[in-house]
Amino acid sequence: MAARRAINPSRRVLDSGGLPLVNSLHQKSRSSPLLSVGLVVLAAFILIGYSFRGSGGISGEKEALSMGQGVSCSSDVLNAIPILKKAYGDSMRKVLHVGPDSCAIVSKLLKEEDTEAWGVEPYDLEDADSSCKSLVRKGFVRVADIKFPLPYRPKSFSLVLVSDSLDYLSPKYLNKTLPDLARVSADGLVIFAGYPGQQRAKVSELAKFGRPAKLRSSSWWIRYFVQTGLEENESVIKKFEQASSESSYKPSCQIFHVSS
Ligand SMILES: *[C@@H]1O[C@H](CO)[C@@H](O)[C@H](O)[C@H]1NC(C)=O
Ligand SMILES: *[C@@H]1O[C@H](CO)[C@@H](O)[C@H](O)[C@H]1NC(C)=O
Repeated sequence: MAARRAINPSRRVLDSGGLPLVNSLHQKSRSSPLLSVGLVVLAAFILIGYSFRGSGGISGEKEALSMGQGVSCSSDVLNAIPILKKAYGDSMRKVLHVGPDSCAIVSKLLKEEDTEAWGVEPYDLEDADSSCKSLVRKGFVRVADIKFPLPYRPKSFSLVLVSDSLDYLSPKYLNKTLPDLARVSADGLVIFAGYPGQQRAKVSELAKFGRPAKLRSSSWWIRYFVQTGLEENESVIKKFEQASSESSYKPSCQIFHVSS
């Protein structure tokens, strides 16, 4: 499903660019109706070919990956900080962020008043800048594989934010990682996940997790929370929505507030 939607842009190009070309050829070659019929049939074959390619799971995913331009929820997390402060209040005093770009998110959190912050970066930090390297050296950010239990005691943080990384975990690993994220949080867990159809294309992410992102729908996540006994925090959801509309915060990712 995700693969098919990811293909849509190329199909749209064909729809808008391909067919007018056929039409203009048609006008020039009025003397040869057979030729224009042939062109229309050819165009139809190309369109059908593209739709089939789009629905083919594996080849579709490869195509989406080679298109580059991976999106992530990192900027949604950065922009959410004032909204989260309004919704969570005192629960923002000790925050753990888990996901890509953790250095950027942790350094922004550290600039907030009354907020301590730590980060777990699931990817290699080889090309990290000097301020990121300094955060790693001081122990604020660590690189860790989130398929394994996090090296923190229960309720070490008041709030845990996780972005993108869960999109790469199969249900088998989600079953371990999500309860572990809830374990280290005292007041809640905020999940930023991609919507189906969004492109996730970082090759380094693929190498790390061994599978491309599997972007799940809101209903999939909500069903998953119910199955695994995680509850959404309704009062925080209301406050977060209110603060979002007051600040015109429009995230491109879906956000869930789960009780720990
Ligand atoms: C994950 O946990 C749920 C709820 O405990 C269970 O129904 C499901 O089968 C598990 N999935 C995997 C792949 O282990
Ligand atoms: C919902 O979140 C708030 C803010 O962190 C917290 O105080 C409250 O205990 C949470 N409620 C539940 C049911 O977890």
